[in-house]
Formats: sequence, structure tokens, C-alpha cells
Amino acid sequence: MGNNELPRDLIEAMRSAKCVFVFTGAGASKESGLPTFREIDGEWTRHDPMTFATFEGFISNPVKVWNLYRLRQRQIASAQPNPAHTTIAEMEQYYPEFLLCTQNVDDLHERAGSRKIVKLHGDAWQMRCLDCGKIFDTRDFDLPDEFTEETLPKCPKCGGLCRPNIVWFGEYVPHEAMAAALDMVSRCDLMLIVGTSGEVSGGYGFAQQARANGATVVEINPSEGVLTRYAHFWVPEPAGLALPRIWKSVTDRCRAQ
Ligand code: OAD
Ligand code: ZN
Repeated sequence: MGNNELPRDLIEAMRSAKCVFVFTGAGASKESGLPTFREIDGEWTRHDPMTFATFEGFISNPVKVWNLYRLRQRQIASAQPNPAHTTIAEMEQYYPEFLLCTQNVDDLHERAGSRKIVKLHGDAWQMRCLDCGKIFDTRDFDLPDEFTEETLPKCPKCGGLCRPNIVWFGEYVPHEAMAAALDMVSRCDLMLIVGTSGEVSGGYGFAQQARANGATVVEINPSEGVLTRYAHFWVPEPAGLALPRIWKSVTDRCRAQ
């Protein structure tokens, strides 16, 4: 799509929206160098999700699972927010009501400046005690890059084994994050979907509910996915290119008026 080909109605819908719900997935962080899950080079092609993303997998080999999450933490630490993250952070300043709901466990949205954010699938920096349920920031402890049985992270309150505070397959998403997302789904006039296949998130029903409630639904993703059928506008481009370009058209239009 060239610059002139952005649909006028898309720009107008984004300009006039008052209550905006943004929903992101791994594709939003791809241009920062972090892998997605279900693409050819994705995490779940290289690592078996039953081993690395289920409670049963963790219990049968916590060292192996933790060491992969420690590696991911190092990848996240060396990645930088891309223009998709920074544009979404700018959008938060512009709209009277705004919520970013991300499935990503990295912190690139926060580092780009997003504050009105809920994390649906947990946080890669956090660990949670299996016994007392308390959540800790792994960066507050002097943890090794690679664990052994002896050095696995233990709860500073009760001594229980800690796990990554990430939502694994078969687990519930955090109630508060889901409630906040559903509230916006029911009230938003614009929903922007960025970089998710919808393979997991299709099950949450956000896009179809927002559309049924009268919101304009916009998707940015180079590939068609489960949620594309609910989008009024699909922009088939990488988010780091498309979002700044769309946002420039929206803000130029505002200044022209
Ligand atoms: P997926 O790997 O399922 O989908 C990534 C999507 O990003 C695909 O639709 C790609 O086409 C798209 N994509 C790739 N590059 C892009 C770019 N530059 N700009 C925009 N889009 C791009 O990842 P998710 O949908 O996020 O859960 O996966 C959902 C959940 O499944 C994840 O949160 C994770 C995984 O199991 C947990 O880890 C709990
Ligand atoms: Zn504990």
C-alpha cells in the first residue's frame, strides 16, 4: 500500500474515535527482533509448547523451562521498542479513553511509554510462588543465567518453588486484566488489532464483540488471521511501518481542520 492508498474512511474513523481499545500480539514486537510463536521461525516451531508452556511441563522439568525463560529475558533486555510500540504510546495521549491490552510478556510497550496497559498473558520478568502465590520481579534477586536443581528460584516469603508468571496453555488469564479488556470491548468505538494470529485470542471474542457493539475494527498484520474476518479495515503490512504512517495521516488531518 502506498501513502495515498490508506482508505479515507479508516483515517476518519481513527480521527473521530473517542474510546479506543488496542489489542496486540507477538507481531508487534517482531520488528524489535523478538520471535513470534506460530510463524515458520516462531517459538512453538522451535520449542514444544507442551514442555515449555504448560504447568505439567514445568513440574516435570523446571530447570529446562526456567532456562528457556531466562534466555527470553536476556533477549527482551537487549531488544528496543520499535515504531509500532512508540506510535501506540502516542495514541494513548490523544484519545480521551484508551486501553492497550497486550498478549506480549515483554516490556517493550511500557518502555515505549504506554501506561494504560493490561497484560493478558503475564510478564516475562515476574516469578510467582507455587505455594503462596506471591509475585516477585526476578530482577530484584541475584539469579544465575542458568539454573540447576539446587539454584531454582525460591520464594523469599515461604521458600516455595517459583514459576515464571506467564499464562500457560490450559490456564486462566488474570481476572482483572480480562475484566478491563471486556469493559473496553463493550464501550470502544474503535478497536485496533496489531500482530496477533488470533489462534489463542480468537477464543476471547474481543473483535467480534467490539464489532457487534458498533465499533470500527482495524487490523494491522501482514498475514490474514482468525480475526481478519471481523475487521472493517485490514492493513496488510508490518506494524512498525504501517502504524506511524497511519498515525501521521490521522494527526495531519486533525491539524488541517
Ligand atoms: P502468533 O505467533 O500466533 O501470531 C503472530 C502474528 O504476528 C501473526 O499473525 C503474524 O502474521 C503477525 N506478524 C508478523 N510480523 C508482523 C509485523 N511486523 N507486524 C504485525 N504483525 C506481524 O502470536 P500471538 O497471536 O501473539 O501465549 O500468540 C498468542 C499467544 O500464543 C501468545 O501470547 C503466547 C502464545 O502461546 C503465551 O505465551 C501465554
Ligand atoms: Zn511463597
